[in-house]
Amino acid sequence: MARARSSATAAAAAPSPVLPEGPAWQALARHRDALANTTMRDLFAADPDRFARFSGRLGDLLVDYSKNRITAETMDLLCDLARETGVEARRDAMVAGEVINTTEGRAVLHVALRNRSDRPIRVDGEDVMPEVNRVLDQMRAFCAAVRDGTWTGATGKPVTDVVNIGIGGSDLGPVMVAEALKPYWHDRIRPHFVSNVDGTHIAETLHGLNPETTLVLVASKTFTTQETLTNAHTARAWLTRALGEGAVAKHFAALSTNAEAVAAFGIDTANMFEFWDWVGGRYSVWSAIGLPVAITIGFDRFEAFLDGAHALDEHFRTAPLAENLPVILGMLGVWNITYHGAAAHALLPYDQYLHRFAAHFQQVDMESNGKRVRLDGSPVVGDTGPVIFGEPGTNGQHSFYQLIHQGTRLIPCDFIAPALSHNPMGEHHPILLSNVFAQAEALMMGKTADEARAELEAQGKTAEEIAALLPHKVFPGNRPSNTLLVKRVDPYTLGMLIALYEHKVFVQGAVWGVNSFDQWGVELGKQLAKAILPELAGDAPVTGHDGSTNGLINAYKALRDS
Ligand code: F6P
Repeated sequence: MARARSSATAAAAAPSPVLPEGPAWQALARHRDALANTTMRDLFAADPDRFARFSGRLGDLLVDYSKNRITAETMDLLCDLARETGVEARRDAMVAGEVINTTEGRAVLHVALRNRSDRPIRVDGEDVMPEVNRVLDQMRAFCAAVRDGTWTGATGKPVTDVVNIGIGGSDLGPVMVAEALKPYWHDRIRPHFVSNVDGTHIAETLHGLNPETTLVLVASKTFTTQETLTNAHTARAWLTRALGEGAVAKHFAALSTNAEAVAAFGIDTANMFEFWDWVGGRYSVWSAIGLPVAITIGFDRFEAFLDGAHALDEHFRTAPLAENLPVILGMLGVWNITYHGAAAHALLPYDQYLHRFAAHFQQVDMESNGKRVRLDGSPVVGDTGPVIFGEPGTNGQHSFYQLIHQGTRLIPCDFIAPALSHNPMGEHHPILLSNVFAQAEALMMGKTADEARAELEAQGKTAEEIAALLPHKVFPGNRPSNTLLVKRVDPYTLGMLIALYEHKVFVQGAVWGVNSFDQWGVELGKQLAKAILPELAGDAPVTGHDGSTNGLINAYKALRDS
């Protein structure tokens, strides 16, 4: 089937996607065509129970997905597609510890990190839970000592600043969660996160910190990542310049799977918090990688965070497809991407503390499902993961929402909002919430030409003025969104929310048949950077690359040396 479509009509008209083989894929295409002239306005007008029909709850989490281009039949057909593509079987294989990450030969068991039940989870026949719980106990003891001041630096002073050095999954999850749970931070202890190899990041972070009261956590699954090791060596030099070599043991700890490399770096492996190769980097905040969070908010709250994720895991593992929230969100994503041509998805938290939420899920979603071949190596048919982006609160409204409301592209949105603010002051929170509800309503309802004309007439515009302005004032509407409400952003709720999105990404990967747990696409750039690094030294002209790369390297040298 032809893919070409006019970008001007992409948001309004259904595209003609290329579809994989299979009756459920085809049935959904026919259904999409049959619904082409039905708008969400029509569907809401026809069904007073639409909100109840298309929303779900788990504890304090409410997911309203009624503002999608769906009917009960759509949801049935999406469940058929989930069944046809083996979502349940793949989910069951994951939680059973099977090697579902076949290109890396690994199980995928972030669910084991937050398994708060007695259920054993086995990898190669061995229950991993005793090891998981051993490291949690080690983390608990260390957190308590750092927080109550019995863990002291080399000069006997308690820790005031925790600097986490890591990148990707060893940074984004912990930063996002630490920021989201700022109301729970320890009074004395401030977390800091360094990821970028740009020296500015570590320089600005260490500037003003006291080495005597600083604890550095080197967070790296592999302990080979260039950026992290470069920053860690710089932090080590900063510390030892002030306090001497002997201070490292009291000021450095490692969060890693690689004990050998940790020891080679000079960190006592007694100060190492272990995790395992079946923990993917972008799913690792639940492991020892969560230590900066646990120190900052306290271990009991970190456990509440795990509890929330576990509740969502149990829901994902046991709820029927039609009521399963991650399945519903995942399948609606497939509906919007595959059948309506959506290439992006906005994550829009109306909670300032969630300001890194979209950044974390950029990695979780785009590194997981940014794939073009299926598990068997054959090319995927149609599109896979969307571009994820977002900003908190009303900021996005004054920035990129214009395109979402009136642009030519279809960009589904998830609005996330708490009923209660950690900072209730005057009218702030009601104003914030009025905006989130209004945005979802505006995207769905839009504004028709008749409504726009009536407004312009009420403003006293002339017929000529109205004719000129009318096309600009019309909102097409019929633009999909989900709204997720929680009571308050607390550790338990945040655990639920993150697990919900992790499993949503899983469901989509299963439907598209890709491996959501490798990331070979990040390797080529790393290899080429290694080759280029030695060429940047000296002033000899570089000639071994393409013309542009040679030109850029040589221009850099000329600028540097001028
Ligand atoms: O960018 C690739 C990647 O492997 C991510 O998947 C990972 O989260 C990040 O690098 C950091 O890796 P590590 O924790 O091994 O330093």
